[in-house]
Amino acid sequence: MNKSYAERPIGVFDSGIGGLTVAGGIHQLLPNEDLVYFGDIRHLPYGDKSDQNIIDYCDGIAQFLMEQDCKMIVIACNSASSIAFEALEAKYGSLVPVINVIDPVVREVASSGCASVGIIATPVTTIKGLYVQKLSHLRPEIRISTIASKSLATIIEEGLFYNRKLIRELVDHYFGDFPALEGVVLACTHYPIIRDVIAEYFGPLVQIFDSTDTVASEVQARLADLGLLSDRRKKGEQRCYVSDYTDSFQTMARTFFGREVQLEFYPLWEEMEDEDLLLQKK
Ligand code: DGL
Repeated sequence: MNKSYAERPIGVFDSGIGGLTVAGGIHQLLPNEDLVYFGDIRHLPYGDKSDQNIIDYCDGIAQFLMEQDCKMIVIACNSASSIAFEALEAKYGSLVPVINVIDPVVREVASSGCASVGIIATPVTTIKGLYVQKLSHLRPEIRISTIASKSLATIIEEGLFYNRKLIRELVDHYFGDFPALEGVVLACTHYPIIRDVIAEYFGPLVQIFDSTDTVASEVQARLADLGLLSDRRKKGEQRCYVSDYTDSFQTMARTFFGREVQLEFYPLWEEMEDEDLLLQKK
């Protein structure tokens, strides 16, 4: 494999700051890799958009990441992984590996001893139902409950994650109806930002699963398989592009990369119509 190809950046994207939890996990595990991150704040939340809108947004971002010479595309969003992974894999998969956040987490949950799990996610991820399908396939006997939260990701994105009382009340409001569980899957990449509140709410006997370390390990394994891990010794660089600016993004980027990261506004959607169609139940 051409060495310079391995020195190209890993491309990661989400609707906003949620994917920074995944990017932060990759940065921890592979500190010498360069990362290019795109946060599509202009279209946030993805979790209540139509399938076609989500596919169009993800395709635009994937094209942008390809133009940045990325050697891998990581869809660091469960809503986008649910709806757009197949389309991106079909279009870009022969050029670069495309990673979704669902499959690695499903494998981890399936190999755990949990007999019952609750999946908490956005409406799009819940309606699409890939966690239930894939998990039932691997572990037919596991009991699975799902609950969607329409607003939690948006509230986290607004920067209100620091307000533990508010987040605790919202967690109780959305997830209070779960039966007794052995595990809870944070099936939205925004939720690891409030993982401690969720873990405290469900109690010490409930195992919490999220995509942060699991997806980072998947990225490492896929790059290693393809001979695409960087072998440079110096620390990698992180570039963050956003389609709109928020203070919480700046704060989170600093938290997850452990240093100040300059956000660049990138007008990816200038020529696209900004139609935020609510997902209608057919
Ligand atoms: N981070 C996205 C996910 O994992 C959710 C946020 C959104 O709805 O845009 O589904």
